[in-house]
Amino acid sequence: MKKETRVTHQPKVTLPEGNIPVVSPVYRSVKFTYPTIEASLGADAKARGYDYSRDSNPTTRQLELLAAELQDRDDAIAVASGMASIWLVLLGKLKAGDRIVIFAETYRPTRVAVRELLPRFGIEFTMLGIEDRAGIEREFARDDTKLVLFESPTNPMMLVPDIAAFVALAQRHGVTTVLDNTFAGLHSHGQFDIDYYVHSMTKYGGGHGDTLGGMVIGSSERIAALRKLAVNMGSTMDPGVSYLTLRGLKTYYLRYERHSENALAIAEYLNGRDEVERVCYPGLPDDPNHELAARQMDDFGGVLSFDLRADKAETWAFIDALELFATAASLGATESLVSPVDLYQAGDLSAEEAAGAGIRESTVRLAVGIEHVDDLLGDLEQAFGKVFG
Ligand SMILES: Cc1ncc(COP(=O)(O)O)c(C=O)c1O
Repeated sequence: MKKETRVTHQPKVTLPEGNIPVVSPVYRSVKFTYPTIEASLGADAKARGYDYSRDSNPTTRQLELLAAELQDRDDAIAVASGMASIWLVLLGKLKAGDRIVIFAETYRPTRVAVRELLPRFGIEFTMLGIEDRAGIEREFARDDTKLVLFESPTNPMMLVPDIAAFVALAQRHGVTTVLDNTFAGLHSHGQFDIDYYVHSMTKYGGGHGDTLGGMVIGSSERIAALRKLAVNMGSTMDPGVSYLTLRGLKTYYLRYERHSENALAIAEYLNGRDEVERVCYPGLPDDPNHELAARQMDDFGGVLSFDLRADKAETWAFIDALELFATAASLGATESLVSPVDLYQAGDLSAEEAAGAGIRESTVRLAVGIEHVDDLLGDLEQAFGKVFG
């Protein structure tokens, strides 16, 4: 073989039987083959074999199986981002003439998808306040309502809906439940009879702020119903990202615990400051959502929001004065972030809708990282000193 050919047909290295790598290999290959066409059509090849990585890939499959198990379900589809996971369920489950119920207390691009983009396909929506129990009952009872998409805790104000009540009501009316479980994490809320969980794996899953990913999780039947669209739509997770996410998940529980501990300490600190009017973190014993959250979740995650007794200029000055908290709109990675909520998380809401969702000019969201909490508290302290004297 000429060397020009050799570089594209490289030597194969195989391991002796019983010689097992402790960390699974990463399958970067887009294509998989068999020695004969006949072999590629065999029962085992059809059931467990791989062909093309947009359809399925062993490394991505490993991640899907792990994510499904953490969420107490049978199966999952890994996709390229959290938004792709939301779109996969929306397009997979809704058709023209159907209605979806969403909430003002939802991640902004999700509202944009439902309010601006779905109507192009003839799919109607109702947007309610997450605490509007009467509205929820009314909308679920409509014949055309087919799906509800909600978060717990909600982004960014950390409200906690009663998931069991939501599910019971949805089931009574034949409404498919989709829980964006990004904030609570893969280990939470598996005990509820939710139809589909969606996650941005960009956050706690990957955990290091260097990968984008998403996951749809459900029963085998529900996931099988989406698989064809997922493969055809092509928003597949890249195997390199799958590997990095698998690696990130090795420290998932340690990280989530530390995010939660740091966030609680910061929420307690902020609660005691005169410059702070209100702290929204369900881990705080005096938070109105605490009792319900404590029943539904084991820990409360790394995100909290609070209102300063300040105008917009002072609020921005406070955010700019923080040194360890980078001003950016994400969460669930090792480093702490801060964002002005009305600007970063509520840009699409009318003034009335934002007020209804409890968002003010002075609302600040922290996505607390895993740094030493003393340094984070020190950073907040110096920013308070700088802006409020
Ligand atoms: C609750 C929630 N859902 C979905 C997403 C979208 O995730 P991605 O950025 O991976 O598309 C985010 C991103 O911040 C989020 O906070």
